[in-house]
Amino acid sequence: MYQTPTDVIAVELRVLSRSHVKRLRKSLLDWFRKNARDLPWRSKPFPYQVWIAEMMLQQTQVKTVLPYYHRWMRRFPDIASIAASSQEEVLRFWEGLGYYSRALHVHRTSRIVVEEHKGEFPADLKTLLDLPGIGKYSAGAILSIAFKKDFPVVDGNVERIFARLFDISDPVGRSFSRNLMWKIAEGLLPKGRAGRFNQALMDLGATICLPRRPLCSDCPAKDFCQAFQKGVVDQRPVSPTRKITTAVRVAVGVLEHEGRILIQKRPPAGLMANLWEFPGGKVVDGEAPEEALVREFQEELELRVACLARITVIRHNYTTFKVTLHAFRCELDGSDQRMVLRCAADARWVERHELENFPFPAANRKLIRMLS
Ligand code: ADE
Repeated sequence: MYQTPTDVIAVELRVLSRSHVKRLRKSLLDWFRKNARDLPWRSKPFPYQVWIAEMMLQQTQVKTVLPYYHRWMRRFPDIASIAASSQEEVLRFWEGLGYYSRALHVHRTSRIVVEEHKGEFPADLKTLLDLPGIGKYSAGAILSIAFKKDFPVVDGNVERIFARLFDISDPVGRSFSRNLMWKIAEGLLPKGRAGRFNQALMDLGATICLPRRPLCSDCPAKDFCQAFQKGVVDQRPVSPTRKITTAVRVAVGVLEHEGRILIQKRPPAGLMANLWEFPGGKVVDGEAPEEALVREFQEELELRVACLARITVIRHNYTTFKVTLHAFRCELDGSDQRMVLRCAADARWVERHELENFPFPAANRKLIRMLS
C-alpha cells in the first residue's frame, strides 16, 4: 500500500515487472474477446458514432444511454445532420439524459467540425481537446477506438480498477491520484491495441469490478489484484469527502390564458441552460410556496397572478441538489397586462400538446405528465 504520494509512479513501475504487465494485459484482452458487451457503437466504431457514445456516456450508464443512442442515430445519422439542425431540436433528443450542457457541446462541436474541418472528425489530441465537451477521457476513447491510436482512458471506473489492482489508498479524484492513474494507464497500454484494452477496462469496471459487491471470483485480473490478495477490495477506492447536496424548494405556476400555457426559456449560461420551464422560482425562508409564486411572476415577468389550486408536489434529485417543486394552477390577476422578460431568454404561450416539443428539466417534465 502506498504510504506517501512521492515517487509512487516509480514504485509502480518497479512493482510491475515487464512480464507481469504483459500477463495482466493478456488476461484483460483475452477476457474482453470472450466477454465484450455487444454495444451499437462497437459494431460501427467510426469517429462520429464513438464521439456521440462518449458524450452520452459521460456521467451516464450504458443501459440508460442505449435507447437515446438508437433514437439519436435515427434522427442524426451523421455530423452534418446535427450541424444543420437547431439547438432546440438537439436538446429535445437529449432530454431525459440530463447534463444538458453535453447536448449544447455536441451541437457546437458539430458546427465546428463541419465549418472548420470539412466535416471530418479531427484525429489528433490537441484539436480534439479544443472541441467543446471533449476532455482527456473522451479524446482518449475516440483516438483509441475510432482512430486506433495509442491513447489511454481514465474515468471513475478505471480509477476504481487501478485503486484495487495496485491497492492505492489516496482518495480518488484528487489531482495527485488522478495523475498517478493516467501514468498507470499509459504504462499498461498495449501498443497497437489501445482501443480494445481501454474497452476491456470499461467493461471490467461495468460488469465485474463493481463499486459494491464486485465479482472478484470471475475477474480476469484477480491474480494481479493487490487489494484482492490483501482482502481489502471493499475498502478501495478511498472516496474523497462527499459534497453535501443542497435542498431547494421551488414554486412553479401553470398559468393558463385563452387555452394556452405560459412557458419560459432559461438563460443561455448556468444551470440547465436553454431548457424551458414553467415560470416560478425559489421559495425563500419564511415564505409560503404560493407567496413565492406570486412574487416570482411579478419580479421575473412583471405579471400579476393569482394562485388557484395546488396541482402537486414533485421531488427530484439532481446531481448536486435536490428539488421540491410545488406546482400550482394560476391565472392572470387582471387581463390588461404586458409581460416583460427580466430573467428568461424567451417566453411563449403554447397549447398543452405543444409542451412535448420543448426540452424541459426532469422535474418540469414530471409535472407535464401529470397535466395530461
Ligand atoms: N463508457 C464510456 N465510454 C464507453 C464505451 N466506449 N464503451 C462502453 N462503455 C463506455
